[in-house]
Amino acid sequence: MSAKEASKRQPARVLTVTSGKGGVGKTNISINLAIALAQQGKRVILLDLDLGLADVDILLNLSVKADLGSVIRGERKLEEILVRAEGKILVVPGAFGDENMANLGDSARRKLIDAIEQMTRYVDYLVIDTGAGLGSNIIDFTANADDVLIVTTPEATSMLDAYAVTKAVHNRNPDTAIHLLINMARDAKEAREASQRMTSIVDHFLHSPLHKEEFLLYDPVVGDAVRRRQPFLLHKPHAQVSRAIKAIARHLDEMPSVHNSKSHQGFIERLVDRFTTNHKAQVSARIPPKR
Ligand SMILES: Nc1ncnc2c1ncn2[C@@H]1O[C@H](COP(=O)(O)OP(=O)(O)OP(=O)(O)O)[C@@H](O)[C@H]1O
Ligand SMILES: [Mg+2]
Repeated sequence: MSAKEASKRQPARVLTVTSGKGGVGKTNISINLAIALAQQGKRVILLDLDLGLADVDILLNLSVKADLGSVIRGERKLEEILVRAEGKILVVPGAFGDENMANLGDSARRKLIDAIEQMTRYVDYLVIDTGAGLGSNIIDFTANADDVLIVTTPEATSMLDAYAVTKAVHNRNPDTAIHLLINMARDAKEAREASQRMTSIVDHFLHSPLHKEEFLLYDPVVGDAVRRRQPFLLHKPHAQVSRAIKAIARHLDEMPSVHNSKSHQGFIERLVDRFTTNHKAQVSARIPPKR
């Protein structure tokens, strides 16, 4: 796509995948959701923003020469690090094990925002895999997205931590659509009960709707796919986990997004506002006018 064509497009809908507790399935879900959206004809970039513990490239068996860290340090351009992956998606590899990435300073954050701004110009969806927890970088990036997918298992501790993240995201940006995804449920009953519990707590305390998404059962197919370094959606397209991911992608795409409303402030503008209150004039000069 030419730069001229890109400038005419609506910026991408930004979807972050996050959780309270670690190891609940975010990375597998981000990858497979990005592919499911691509299978529905969308242009998708998957951004690995698990700063410090990035592993999307490992799960996708990508050969990565340079990662997001090199863009943030100003050594590479974004287009030099984009990698094509199976399932017709583009991937921005994260910065594995680079400890400085976990706590970005002001200038690195601005470089990151610039890079993200570029990404949103060329695609329909930007799917962001984040780390777990309430670290301020994570919450800032998460809460500024159009849609946030909170992943939790039905375990009480995972649910409690998921609630804490839901609350933090909602308090930071009440316009973000928050979606709940129960992963690794033993059966449908357990998933539905967990989902019901969480939605009634969120209704009661945050007075805000939580969009319930299709649940994913615990399925050894996911572990098999991880060992083969292949997304489970491509390894076993008819497994329950794969059907559920496709249903989530369809539901997201059909759901009207705040993103489409005229008054909606875009992801990049919100990030800039949030991160650069003191340097706003300088930075917003680089942001293209609203389309
Ligand atoms: N539905 C599922 N059924 C069976 N195993 C699953 C399922 N979802 C995830 N897993 C397994 O859980 C483990 C953690 O998954 P993943 O790395 O995607 O989680 P994460 O939330 O991204 O972790 P981290 O917080 O470390 O980034 C993996 O070994 C994966 O195979
Ligand atoms: Mg992960």
